[in-house]
Amino acid sequence: MRKPIIAGNWKMFKTVSEAVAFVSDVKGKAEIDGVESVICAPFTNLPALVEAVKGTSIKIGAQNLHWEDSGAYTGEISGAMLKDLGVTHVIIGHSERRQYFAETDETVNKKVHAALKHGLVPIVCVGEKLEEREAGETKNVCKVQTEAAFAGLSAEQAAGVVIAYEPIWAIGTGKSSTAEDANEVIAYIRSVVAGLYGQSTADAVRIQYGGSVKPNNVREYLQQSDIDGALVGGASLDPASYIQLVEGAR
Ligand code: G3H
Repeated sequence: MRKPIIAGNWKMFKTVSEAVAFVSDVKGKAEIDGVESVICAPFTNLPALVEAVKGTSIKIGAQNLHWEDSGAYTGEISGAMLKDLGVTHVIIGHSERRQYFAETDETVNKKVHAALKHGLVPIVCVGEKLEEREAGETKNVCKVQTEAAFAGLSAEQAAGVVIAYEPIWAIGTGKSSTAEDANEVIAYIRSVVAGLYGQSTADAVRIQYGGSVKPNNVREYLQQSDIDGALVGGASLDPASYIQLVEGAR
């Protein structure tokens, strides 16, 4: 079946030395058979992290990429550059990037194509704002974002995409969605993928929950029928907590 995936999103935290020290603390511990463990770090940390995790099963991801391979795009990093470093995953369309850096459904889609072109696993974030939830728009928002992100992908490409359902009101707030509510939305997102590609592709796509996931609630989410992992911000920064998150997905 689907292999659970725990991804830490470090956001704009940790220097290179802090990142390397983190890996030496979690080595051999945040490595559980049958669970994929991915650290998504700031660009500056990626070369040192790729080196530090050699010989472990921990994978390294970025938090963004540009859709072109190269060009006059000051300040940007391409999928080709990430692949060359040994990065394997990349977060795309995180709500913070949509909110503060003008990412749109269209740029998210271009980035998904670029990631797949370079053999990177895209972790595509979708999720509703508080006002959209209160207006009963949660499922519709997730459908629109999911369909836009997958536009133009073959079924084979789609099966390799990881989706992270992150209700924006639950990010960094300590207010997590209940496991049952998150599972209902995630099952719905899976049905949207089934509508695009059929049930077998939908059954292969892994869908994470994100938003105030902690060591003490991760197991509850992972026990749900459709939740295949977690995208974790704050609780992924501390080594002991990260180890517990990965253990919780066992
Ligand atoms: O990418 C991770 C999410 O934004 C969740 O962050 O675990 O700090 O709520 P959080």
